[in-house]
This record gives sequence, C-alpha cells and structure tokens, in this order.
Amino acid sequence: MLRTLHRIAQANVQQKTRQLISCVAVRYSSAKVLTTETMHPLIKNVEYAVRGALPIRAEALSAELKAGKKLNFDKVVFCNIGNPQQLNQKPITFFRQVSSLCENPELLAPENRELLSKLYPADAIARAEVLLKNIGSIGAYSHSKGIPFIRENVAKFIESRDGYSANPEHIFLTQGASSGVQTMIQILTQNTSVGIMIPIPQYPLYSATISLVDAAPIPYYLNEEENWGLSTEDLKKSIEEGRKAGKDVRALVIINPGNPTGQCLSEQNIREIIDFCHKERLLLLADEVYQTNIYMPKERPFHSFKKVLLSMGEKYKDQELVSFHSTSKGMIGECGRRGGYFECVNIDEGVLEQLYKISSISLCPNVSGQIMVDLMTNPPVEGDASYAKYKSEIDGIFQSLQRRAIKLASCFNSLEGITCNAAEGAMYLFPRITIPQKAVEAAKEAKMAPDAFYSMAMLDATGVCVVPGSGFGQEAGTWHFRSTFLPEENLFDGFCSKIEDFHKDFLNKYRD
Ligand SMILES: Cc1ncc(COP(=O)(O)O)c(C=O)c1O
Repeated sequence: MLRTLHRIAQANVQQKTRQLISCVAVRYSSAKVLTTETMHPLIKNVEYAVRGALPIRAEALSAELKAGKKLNFDKVVFCNIGNPQQLNQKPITFFRQVSSLCENPELLAPENRELLSKLYPADAIARAEVLLKNIGSIGAYSHSKGIPFIRENVAKFIESRDGYSANPEHIFLTQGASSGVQTMIQILTQNTSVGIMIPIPQYPLYSATISLVDAAPIPYYLNEEENWGLSTEDLKKSIEEGRKAGKDVRALVIINPGNPTGQCLSEQNIREIIDFCHKERLLLLADEVYQTNIYMPKERPFHSFKKVLLSMGEKYKDQELVSFHSTSKGMIGECGRRGGYFECVNIDEGVLEQLYKISSISLCPNVSGQIMVDLMTNPPVEGDASYAKYKSEIDGIFQSLQRRAIKLASCFNSLEGITCNAAEGAMYLFPRITIPQKAVEAAKEAKMAPDAFYSMAMLDATGVCVVPGSGFGQEAGTWHFRSTFLPEENLFDGFCSKIEDFHKDFLNKYRD
C-alpha cells in the first residue's frame, strides 16, 4: 500500500514537472502566442471585399505615387467605398460649426462672444449651447444607449418622417449603422443553426457578421432584369431551401435603397415583404442608411418600413422590426464620425434590456457621432439663420449626385458588353460585364475570379479602384463590379473617359 502511494506521488511530481517545463519552453521559445494558426478561426475566415485585395493594392499604388514613382495615372480614385469626404465632398457647414463649438466650449466664453458672433451664425451658437447643456462635456462617457436628449430628437424626427410616434427608449445610438447591425445579428444568433436571410447581391457587412457569429446566411436573389426588384416568390424559395437544410430561419435583411444595387422598393413591395415576414415569423432588419439618397423622388420615393408596417393595421401589430440609420450617407457623408442609430419596433422588453446591457459593455457610442446624429435628425429649418446655406449645400450635393449617377450609368451602358441599371438611390452602380473567354482563362491562371481580374486590370491602367461583384454575391455565371459615383463632378468627364479607354483596351487584348 505504502509503496503504491509513493509511486503515485512520484508520478504526480513527474507530470507536474513535465507541464512546467513545457510551459516555460513555450514562453521562452521564439514562437508567438497569437498567430494566424492559433487565432479565432471564424475571424480568419471572414471576407470583406470592400476593403479586400483591390483596395490594398490601391493603397500600395497610392503610396508609390507619393514616393514619386511614375505610373499610368497620377492619382488613385477610391470608388470602392461610399466615403464621400474621402473624394472631397464638403461637410455641411452648420454641422461642423456646431460640432466645433461642442469640441471647444471655451469659444462660447463671454469674452469671446463678440468675435464668435462674427464667425458663427446665431443658431449654430444656440444649438451648441443646448447640446452642451444636455451633454455636459463631450469627453465624458454618456448613457450607454446614447444621450437621452438626442434620442428624444431622433424620436421626433421619426415621428415627423412617418406620422407615427416613436419611443426614445426603443432607440439606441450607435457607432455608425454597422455596430447596430453587428449587435442585432449577434443577439439573434442563439446557436449555429440560426439562419438569416440576406439579399444577393448584398453589402458584405451582413455576410461578414453572420460568418463571425457562425450563423448561416440564407441568400435570396434580387432580379437584375427587373431593376434589382425583389419578389416574394424568391423569398419563399429561399426560406424553404434554408429550412430544408435544417436552418432555424429567424430574420430577413432588407437594404433599401440597395447597396450595391441602388434600387428603391415600392410601398406595395414593402407591404408584401412585411406580410411575408409576418407569415413566416421573421424579424425584419431594415437597413435604411440611404433613405435620403433618392434620385427619382417622384417615381421611386423612399418609404420607411416602420411607416408601412404601422399603416398595415391590427393584424401586423406584433411584427418585429429593427431599422438602421447613419450619418455616413445621405448628403452628410460624415463617415469618420461614426454616428448612427437603430429603432426597435415590437421588440420584446427583455431583449431591449439585454440590448442595453451589451451596449453598456462598450460604455457608450462616441459622443461626437451622437452630436452628428442630433444634427442629421434636427437640422436648421426655415426661419433659422443657417437655413438658406444649409439648404443650398444639401441641394447642391444632392443634384450633383443625381447628375453623376446618370452620367456614370450612361458611360457604362455605352461600353461593349456592359449593361447597367440606373441608380434609383444610394451611391453605387453595379454594372454587369461580359468577360471574354480568353480573359476568363487569364484570370484562372492568375488564380482570380474573372471580375476581380477585370477590376485589378482597371486599377492598374487607370488608378480607379472598384470592387468585384464576387465580393457582394451575384447570380452564378454573371460578372459585375461596383463603383461609387462619388468622384468630384469637375473631374467626372475625365474619370469616365479613363474607364472607356481601359475597357476598349481590355476587350482588344482578350477578344475571343
Ligand atoms: C447598406 C449599408 N449599411 C450600413 C453601412 C454602414 O455604414 P456606417 O457604419 O458608416 O453607418 C453601409 C456603409 O457603406 C451600407 O452601405
């Protein structure tokens, strides 16, 4: 007995010593603890084309130009992302005036007032004072759901947009729309059998976030021939396939106006989608960040999902909806401020509490972004000192976007083998390209998708960076790319002719 105990004790000591030696060996070997082999595999597998291989090469080319290298072009034009101020869109003056006073409240001190009133209009000064009174210092953490005063203003904005009341307690301010989308997809994913319906083509925030949480994307296709329209037949087909594959399909993502497709849904179509979600018990995630980028306001006005849902009466009173908005888009384009919000409609009270809890983990959305949300939802109105300037800036940007959308679509449509739907909304065109077989083979050799090969050739020849359609999803056998129409209007003719020349050269090189 004693001998046995002694043997066990000895074995334990030996094992502990071995463990200790191996720990020390790992610690002091040159191998890093964190490598792409040891990192979270779901993060490694995520793809995000908007900032993928093309933009990485574009940044490298940009650096080469800065270092004095001679290339086929003297500037890289970043059309891969809807980032208006990167392409020199001017910020809205009133918004920057107010936010600069909030940043530096010393400017509001009595001894500076005389000078201040020469530099800033009275309503910008008054707005900054009201905001500061409700915020305190912008350097302090705020309420985790966002500053209550700003959430009240957002609720008033939604009420006046839709004609239905909104509850500030059901509104969460966020770091851009992206963080709200991520939060909602995370909270929806109970386990890996959860499926979330997403459009194809889609904005890759959705596919990337779904893959991060290990849920399943359930694709439904937009119909290119019908100007990227959405049929409930296709929705039905898609949900059936998802369920057949054993998925617990719980939510439907709608991007309206669409990215990358630019379509605006009709009110009738929105009703059908809501009815579909109601029948199939799906939570609706309505991405409405482009709600003011509406280029055919008469034929294709914007209808919010909330307004249409509430107009549908008693039967739909429990339909769950979360809608997202952002300060990055519209005519504002303050992408770097990271302002946004989401509104929850008919969401379970317990879930609202959980949303509050997870918002608290990151303490609060950044306060400068929250100020931008306040300004977006509560801009100068007629009679205010800043109104005329504000309106002329907004109208100027809007009309220019409208002209550029038409110009770029007509440039694409004039090219052999390219067809392009008009942009009813948003900031992008998604032309379809016929790629000659010889180029398809060259792409295969280069281990690239044909549309990535085409887009890379365009970048190398012109400095224009677009995103291949494969990054958004597309009908099998079709090829596309997405380009913003954000380059400055005075450079637009040159921009279009560069693309035309490149396309002709590409076809001549690879013609079958
Ligand atoms: C459809 C759509 N949703 C959400 C976002 C995210 O925008 P942000 O996080 O800047 O608000 C974008 C950005 O391009 C978008 O196109």
